[in-house]
Amino acid sequence: MSGITTERRGAVAEIVFDRPDKRNAITVAMYAALAEALEAAEADEAVRVVLFHGHGGAFTAGNDLHDFLAHPPDGSDRPVFRFLRGLAGARKPLVAAVQGPAVGIGTTMLLHCDLVLAAEDARFMLPFVNLGLVPEAASSLLLPRLAGYQRAAELFFLGDPFDAATAQRIGLVGRVVPAADLLAAARALADRLAAKAPAALLATKALLKSASVTVAERIEEEATVFVRQLQSAELQEAVAAFFEKRAPDFSRGGRAIG
Ligand code: COA
Repeated sequence: MSGITTERRGAVAEIVFDRPDKRNAITVAMYAALAEALEAAEADEAVRVVLFHGHGGAFTAGNDLHDFLAHPPDGSDRPVFRFLRGLAGARKPLVAAVQGPAVGIGTTMLLHCDLVLAAEDARFMLPFVNLGLVPEAASSLLLPRLAGYQRAAELFFLGDPFDAATAQRIGLVGRVVPAADLLAAARALADRLAAKAPAALLATKALLKSASVTVAERIEEEATVFVRQLQSAELQEAVAAFFEKRAPDFSRGGRAIG
């Protein structure tokens, strides 16, 4: 067993850190399994949302320190980088449910997730400097953008653990819930996303992640997608549902509806 398990629940692909005796610390084999699972979810048209969570009361303790020293990643083709590229480039919405420790990449990967829920007992940590390392996963770019320079510098320089309330305050986490409710709440949120108009949802994520920087460029970019969506079966279904006083049904897929 690789330490990663996957499960399909309707249109949601769940990718689970499943090595509870080692607090779900991630080995090279687990990175390979993570990358494969994410690539498979992206390629499968029936999957609309990906949900990450961990078994055994932990999200992940980050890199397996034994494995990391024995097999340090030495090139951009290594499984860890393949996984990071998959996360950063994911077209589909990524949801994460964080319980217990989320160390190193357990925290930095959240910067690439679209909706993050944390249990009240979640503990985040960026121990790179304490280990003689530096941030990864573009977190040196994304965390200061999200939290502000001073906050990011403090979290990276000191490497102190921080709790769910702090993570929510700095914008790393959207919702905090009791640990007993975490998975159900994350699944409910993932199911809600999976029921949305799929092409509109993917296009909205692409716009949110777009690198266009000026307001004028962004208006043009949005307009192109907006005009395309005006021609879509998704809009027809949404408007028909409104006038027929029923919930829209987008279950038949993107442009094929109608
Ligand atoms: N790599 C390898 N093994 C790890 C690990 C890691 N990153 N994190 C935990 N483990 C192992 C421990 O060695 C221990 O193994 P053992 O039972 O054979 O002794 C087991 O997992 C349980 O860990 P423990 O420290 O007892 O759990 P805890 O709940 O008290 O603390 C953490 C959890 C995650 C806070 C703590 O284990 C920790 O700080 N781990 C290191 C995190 C780290 O530096 N990651 C690298 C980031 S780049």
